[in-house]
Amino acid sequence: MSALHADFYADQMVQHETVLEQNECIAEATYRLRVSAPAIASIAVPGQFVMIRLAGVDAPLIGRALAIWDVLPGEDGKPKYIDLIYLKKGSFTTACAESPLGTNVSLWGPLGNGFSARPCDRLIMAVGGIGQTPMLLLGREAIGSQSFGRPSGWANQVELIYGARRESLLAGVPDFRQAGFEVQLCTDDGSTGRQALVPDVLAARLDELDDTSSVRVVTCGPEIMMEKVADASRQRGVDCQVSMETPMACGIGICFSCVAKVKQDDGQWDYKRTCVEGPIFDADKIVW
Ligand SMILES: Cc1cc2nc3c(=O)[nH]c(=O)nc-3n(C[C@H](O)[C@H](O)[C@H](O)COP(=O)(O)OP(=O)(O)OC[C@H]3O[C@@H](n4cnc5c(N)ncnc54)[C@H](O)[C@@H]3O)c2cc1C
Ligand code: FES
Repeated sequence: MSALHADFYADQMVQHETVLEQNECIAEATYRLRVSAPAIASIAVPGQFVMIRLAGVDAPLIGRALAIWDVLPGEDGKPKYIDLIYLKKGSFTTACAESPLGTNVSLWGPLGNGFSARPCDRLIMAVGGIGQTPMLLLGREAIGSQSFGRPSGWANQVELIYGARRESLLAGVPDFRQAGFEVQLCTDDGSTGRQALVPDVLAARLDELDDTSSVRVVTCGPEIMMEKVADASRQRGVDCQVSMETPMACGIGICFSCVAKVKQDDGQWDYKRTCVEGPIFDADKIVW
């Protein structure tokens, strides 16, 4: 199947009509919601996302992409629930934050390619803003505490470098710690952790390691941060994958609203749809 075919990755997609089972504020303007979506939960891999919309609502009409934060089992032990974390920002997230439990939602997924499960000694997840959301499942898979129908336990150590403007915006840190990752926090105002930027913390961390030949970096967050994380990794010869968060309308390859400039094998670049040919790309392929 050609990479330009709309079914390229979306052909596994399932649509669920379901309800909000949890929708709680977990940090400043940041919410965690839970829906029952077993058909999606049972096949998702780390780094994939769902499109979600409030059912029966005119505005916004178009769904929003949210990374899959967690997959939880039902009473029979099989994957049943999906948790998403969202930052209250514009029309969808404001309406969702104000929606009571039991509100009808439509979601479709899993979408996108997901992170690769390339083995390494140390996985460093460098995230900022609301970019932490695809990382919990990836880190758990890497250290082997959760698996997703593909190899797990492919890293010996997992580290998280997580930055935000201030402490109150950090969301999900207890889950990262509970998962056994080494967590390094940084904030712009120094309200917790180091008063430093994620790419600088990453660069310092890579420089203090004796051997970076088996280190992998993954990143998600503001584009300027990801570009600098990609630069810091490239300068040190470290493998880096980015999760692009270009705005999406359909999520299934049809509308071309989500394109990013991606380098081809011949050195030229072309537009790629991040929903079906991403959102994960090798960092050195992105034309920032
Ligand atoms: C693969 C992927 C994964 C993602 N994962 C997550 C995730 O896990 N969590 C998360 O929170 N987000 C995630 N996003 C982003 C998410 O899809 C939405 O873009 C985001 O939540 C904002 O949606 P919204 O409807 O609330 O805001 P929108 O209404 O779409 O607004 C977006 C921005 O535009 C501004 N804006 C809106 N209307 C106007 C206007 N009229 N004039 C000027 N500015 C305006 C808003 O203030 C806001 O800054 C992801 C995106 C992608 C592509
Ligand atoms: S969001 Fe429509 S093609 Fe990607």
